[in-house]
Amino acid sequence: MREVLESKWLTTGPATLKFENKFAQYLGAKHALAVNSGTAALQLAVNVIGLQPGDEVLVPTFTFTATAEVATFFGARPVLCDSVTDGFNIDVADAESRVTSKTKAIIPVHIAGEPCDLDAIHKMASDHRVHVIEDAAHALPASFRGRRIGTCSELTAFSFYATKNITTGEGGMLVTDSEAYAEKAHCMRLHGISSGAWKRYSREGTWSYEVLHAGFKLNLPDILSALGSAQLSKADQFWQRRSEIARRYCERFAKAEELQLPTIVGPGCEHSWHLFLLRLRPATLRIGRNEFITELKRLGVGASVHFIPLHLHPYYAQTHGYKPGDFPNAEDAFSRCLSLPIYPTLSDDEVERVIRTVEKVLSTYRRTVVAVA
Ligand SMILES: Cc1ncc(COP(=O)(O)O)c(C=O)c1O
Repeated sequence: MREVLESKWLTTGPATLKFENKFAQYLGAKHALAVNSGTAALQLAVNVIGLQPGDEVLVPTFTFTATAEVATFFGARPVLCDSVTDGFNIDVADAESRVTSKTKAIIPVHIAGEPCDLDAIHKMASDHRVHVIEDAAHALPASFRGRRIGTCSELTAFSFYATKNITTGEGGMLVTDSEAYAEKAHCMRLHGISSGAWKRYSREGTWSYEVLHAGFKLNLPDILSALGSAQLSKADQFWQRRSEIARRYCERFAKAEELQLPTIVGPGCEHSWHLFLLRLRPATLRIGRNEFITELKRLGVGASVHFIPLHLHPYYAQTHGYKPGDFPNAEDAFSRCLSLPIYPTLSDDEVERVIRTVEKVLSTYRRTVVAVA
């Protein structure tokens, strides 16, 4: 960071190139393109596959709005899909039932860092000739059947937003093995001009450039890339700590009938533990999810909800005609879920305090079964 400030090269330049190379190497991918948000990475991804007005893009309703909104940037329609039964990730059979002649792509999201069933997604995509763009905002580092997320599909978008597993404050990375996609994304990232602006000012560059497309302004400045490189060096260490915390929560809550713990991922798969998503079993408690969070907060533990399904938001209801009841699995997950604190600097004592506070709320509001003689 200090080096970048002293170099006086603040915008996209050598530190960004270094971060991109380091990121690609970390995943084992060919190309990584740094951008100023995860949303920007998704925007570039749908742009390079040639998304057009009138096209349709399959996206889970159980996600953050960025996953779906990028389709609308290009006049395409986000087609929402339900979650798997008793889970958070996209239900591939439900997605397949929504394929039409206009479907151009599917954007699966590895919710909380739990890898989606990419085998089923790729089969469906190849049967219907649709592109796969992974929204891996939560999935660094995560793996599917021995392969790092970021190396499994044509295009993968990562986010470095403040709360993500590694952060640059705001930032993102588009990853691909395709030379053609990388080249187009590189050009569109910076106004559609023929070469990076920083090259124009370097010794080997010239003042000349050509505008090839109406591009965007999505580049990541060197100051943030330097932060990204430093964070990436610690990514495994951060992940170890997140995994340890998740393991501790799982062990301690294993016997609590009121709680449904995160799904155990399959062989060769790794969870990134970006979020620790619990689900309550409503029949066992005298309070609902919202009151549960309020009680935790009253006792000094912050919890949140990821996510309010998109179809329950006014924009998706009013503009795209969705309504409550359209996606029962996602609504069930939403009504019962909460995210407990999980981040690398959470100390053992703090983890213990979270566990004890959850246990206290459980014991206060447990529904006692009265035996009838
Ligand atoms: C699932 C998902 N996709 C995309 C994004 C967008 O990332 P960014 O905030 O970096 O644009 C987020 C952000 O939180 C997210 O949770």
